[in-house]
Amino acid sequence: MATAGGGSRETFSSKLGFTLAAVGSAVGLGNMWRFSYMAAENGGAAFVMLYILMTALVGLPVMLAEMTIGRGARNSPIKALAHFGGTAWQPLGLLFVAAGVIILSYYAVIAGWTARYAVEGVVFGFLDPSKSADYFTQIASGPQAAMWHVAVMIVASSIVVGGIRGGIERVSLILMPVLALLIVGLAIYASTLSGAGEGYTYYFSTDFKSILKAEVLQDAAGQAFFSLSLGMGAILTYSSYLSRDHHLPNESLMIAVSDFGVAFMAGMVIFPILFAFGLQNQVSGSTLGTLFITLPSAFAHMGGAGRIIGSLFFIALLVGAITSMISLLEVVVSSVIDTLKWPRKRAVVVAAVCITLFGLPAAFDINILGLMDQIGGNVMLVFGGLMLSLFVGWAMPDAIDEVSAGTSGIKWFFLWRGLLRFVVPAVLLFVMYFLIVGTVNMIGNMFGS
Ligand code: PFF
Repeated sequence: MATAGGGSRETFSSKLGFTLAAVGSAVGLGNMWRFSYMAAENGGAAFVMLYILMTALVGLPVMLAEMTIGRGARNSPIKALAHFGGTAWQPLGLLFVAAGVIILSYYAVIAGWTARYAVEGVVFGFLDPSKSADYFTQIASGPQAAMWHVAVMIVASSIVVGGIRGGIERVSLILMPVLALLIVGLAIYASTLSGAGEGYTYYFSTDFKSILKAEVLQDAAGQAFFSLSLGMGAILTYSSYLSRDHHLPNESLMIAVSDFGVAFMAGMVIFPILFAFGLQNQVSGSTLGTLFITLPSAFAHMGGAGRIIGSLFFIALLVGAITSMISLLEVVVSSVIDTLKWPRKRAVVVAAVCITLFGLPAAFDINILGLMDQIGGNVMLVFGGLMLSLFVGWAMPDAIDEVSAGTSGIKWFFLWRGLLRFVVPAVLLFVMYFLIVGTVNMIGNMFGS
């Protein structure tokens, strides 16, 4: 395979393979539920517009920046940043690896709950609705949560051991179409329920005033980064396995549109179901509670159909979670392979064991899980995005040449660079401020009480 400068580095075997792997990274626990929930809470269609604006002005430029660095350097984050920026930028790569470790270690705990609900849904159906909340409290933390956490980490590791073509690409080519079919099928089913209309009305009720708050802007930015897997080198790492004939702007657009599409459709599944069973008032303050308590009790209300629908829902969620986990693991694994020159198998085993152990506190204490999400999934991603925009905007000399390889030369690449120089840093600095204040308060509440 002809590659630029990467020697024998593996590549994706097809365009579709890369696209589906990257969409697999993006589509996961984050957008299957968090997006629609945020939209409904924060102004409905007005929030959706703000989210699209955030994706276009901040998310897409940063995604293209990650792709440009990854494909250009054909190396994992630490070495890729050094390749274009010298050793001064290496610590940013290390920070990406650290973010990968933190995010994957608690994400796998949630994926573990999901796996449990999927398996139990198939085997036993869903519990008596009045018991849903107690059940979740019982399984969310403790030795059983740890066991399921280990189980999903084993599944993700066994995919990543196969490498890019034999593992990540092959699995994405199968699982992503399955996920798309499941979510569309579920949305069609949900539209036939008697509460569907009210559910849609709630989801789309538009309130422009509520998007004018700083927290909502912060939520939209944080959600865009988490959902698109940006700010910690996941897209950078996948792009390091690309050849130079890929049209990066088209790829980034495909990924963002698919990610948004799934997030949007998930809302079209969830709200009709909640309204059909009169459970809208039980939508709790915690997004996780609603996903793992209120929805299962709706499935229980549905009787026999609920067992099928509920199992399919949690299977779809699990598919999204696994394809995101493998991208997080690949960031760590490829960095170990490239910097320590370890064989892939050893890198996967050591990385997976360390991450699993690091995740145990989250498996035993849901408050620790929340704190890890705030630090890894919010603060570190937004900070990573800020640094990436400064790097490609100001420090990387040949960014425009690199991004335009594989295209016929597009004039608006200068617009991209302008966004990275001024708009993205300004928005992310603003968001960073509120995130830090929020995190300090969160830590104060945890240890103060
Ligand atoms: N995008 C994933 C989701 O929405 O669930 C989460 C994620 C995956 C975040 C990979 C960051 C990442 F690098």
